[in-house]
Amino acid sequence: MADAESLLVVENLVASYGRIEAVRGISFAVNPGEIVAVIGANGAGKTTTLAAISGLVRPRSGRIAWMGEEISTLPVETIVRRGLAHCPEGRRIFPGLTVRENLISGASARRHDKAEVAQDLDRIFDLFPRLKERIGQRGWSLSGGEQQMLAIGRALMSRPKLLMLDEPSLGLAPIIIEQMFDRILELNRSTGLAILLVEQNSAMALEISSRALVLEAGRITLSGSAATLAGDPRIVEAYLGG
Ligand SMILES: Nc1ncnc2c1ncn2[C@@H]1O[C@H](COP(=O)(O)OP(=O)(O)O)[C@@H](O)[C@H]1O
Ligand SMILES: [Mg+2]
Repeated sequence: MADAESLLVVENLVASYGRIEAVRGISFAVNPGEIVAVIGANGAGKTTTLAAISGLVRPRSGRIAWMGEEISTLPVETIVRRGLAHCPEGRRIFPGLTVRENLISGASARRHDKAEVAQDLDRIFDLFPRLKERIGQRGWSLSGGEQQMLAIGRALMSRPKLLMLDEPSLGLAPIIIEQMFDRILELNRSTGLAILLVEQNSAMALEISSRALVLEAGRITLSGSAATLAGDPRIVEAYLGG
């Protein structure tokens, strides 16, 4: 699965919190333009995997190669600057800042001028027109779906080559979830942006991804094309509600 073209290659990644081994030796790759889904129950190690890739959690062992270079010892900001953006679980937008200010905070990792920022804001408003309508509102006053759009928009301001999304559907109503996944798929199709999508909503994640991994207690127990996994009886039973 990993080849010379891969954007991200993770090999035998182990990450722990003290004695708790959250990720126990996982390997996978993400290639340009693809959506790769990571599905798994609460506590499986999904968030820790993304945190290790983005530099928030230092791996205990293993290799994380980004465009051919080891990044597991680099500072978070350097990793973002190289084109790897992380949209964290729970959105983590700044509640006291406006939509515009939240978005601009996402551009701080790279050198940018006003014209570039204006251009990037326009692209984000094309994708999420709702954010444009809310441009002057404070983060706290947005709905859950709007906050999620804002978190994705902010991550896009770093002009990533790979966007890592941690449970974008968490806490949202079904209709909003569907819209959110439509947008994520459109983002991928229209720009070729590669996406690593962590989700407990397995049905939606498998629907929009090309490949998927199943994480159980820190290990990858199944992987393959999303279509194959969606038809696998083990997945249907454990993750798609029978
Ligand atoms: N900050 C932390 N300190 C200690 N244990 C943690 C911490 N974050 C996560 N864990 C533990 O690591 C394991 C994996 O958690 P996590 O990566 O958050 O899983 P997921 O995102 O799949 O729900 C769980 O057992 C969880 O309790
Ligand atoms: Mg999580």
